[in-house]
Amino acid sequence: MTKRKKKMKKIFKYPLLFLLVIIVGYSSITIYKKYEEKRNSFDIPILNDNKDEIKKKLSSLNYSDEDIDLIKKELNEKNINYLIDKEIDNKLAINIINEKYYIDEYLEKYVTYFNNNPTLDSKEIITRVNSHLDTEFYTNTEKTDDTLGKFVILNKHYYSNGNYKGEHLINVDAKYNLYGYEFQLSKECYEAFLKMYNDAEKAGYGFKINSAYRSYEKQISIYQGWVNKDGVSLADTYSARAGYSEHQTGYAFDIRDYPFTNDDYSKTKSFTWVSKNAHKYGFIIRFPENKEYITGYQYEPWHYRYVGESAAKYIYENDITFEEYYEYFIRFNNPRNLS
Ligand code: DAL
Ligand code: ZN
Repeated sequence: MTKRKKKMKKIFKYPLLFLLVIIVGYSSITIYKKYEEKRNSFDIPILNDNKDEIKKKLSSLNYSDEDIDLIKKELNEKNINYLIDKEIDNKLAINIINEKYYIDEYLEKYVTYFNNNPTLDSKEIITRVNSHLDTEFYTNTEKTDDTLGKFVILNKHYYSNGNYKGEHLINVDAKYNLYGYEFQLSKECYEAFLKMYNDAEKAGYGFKINSAYRSYEKQISIYQGWVNKDGVSLADTYSARAGYSEHQTGYAFDIRDYPFTNDDYSKTKSFTWVSKNAHKYGFIIRFPENKEYITGYQYEPWHYRYVGESAAKYIYENDITFEEYYEYFIRFNNPRNLS
């Protein structure tokens, strides 16, 4: 490099760098300012306005600050607007939202059910709506999710069709059958049954299965047989219509004491043991006493349903039906941590 060139470079080097810094700095500030302007003109003020607006409206309906915090935590936007637009009574709404098995998707249904049944308390409203008692049995029925394995529900609200044939059905040894016939159960249910059967036997209590997996077609003939004998209304209290029986899942079975002592299974020693222990093996009494209005069936101390140990324990300890458990924990996969 010539002396002259070197000199020129020296002269221009620093001003050029200085200019570059100025340009980069100015552009960054301009971009940031634009971003801030946009942020201020859209998001934040609108959100704040909305929040203030919601708070103002709910306060004017006598919701306390604490109520409003709860509402913001538990309710989706549609439900918050519903409370405001319909001016829902604050005590009613807060009682309902505070209930243990509150399902946000059902808020409107709870309020409607309360308006039609104002003498019921909020716990009962939740129980009934979650169990679909706001519609008549066998009306507005819904196709069940038959991919749920041991959590598939079938009742007077959820149905399946003839294509659903239970899951992992296996043939069960005739020695467990009251009449000495081979029958079928889902594999997981059968394995749990064997454990329970063997432990009961060791403890000195016996039982045999008299009905297990039943196909859709089999249920048609069973139900029809009872209708011919007792008429529809009575048959409906103890026999499921085809597509609505959990015997179709392969996860349900009926037992009788063995050796036989009493026609009423609830009066047997075998029942005393089974009713206290079944949940440890994953079974529940599917149609419990005093829950007939929820399940839609008479008390059936002989009918057991496999739901797995954790669900069975929860249902047993909290004295709820599978209807209630299913809706809250399975269908809506509720994240609330319940003890
Ligand atoms: N006995 C019960 C309800 C059934 O038929 O599935
Ligand atoms: Zn049964």
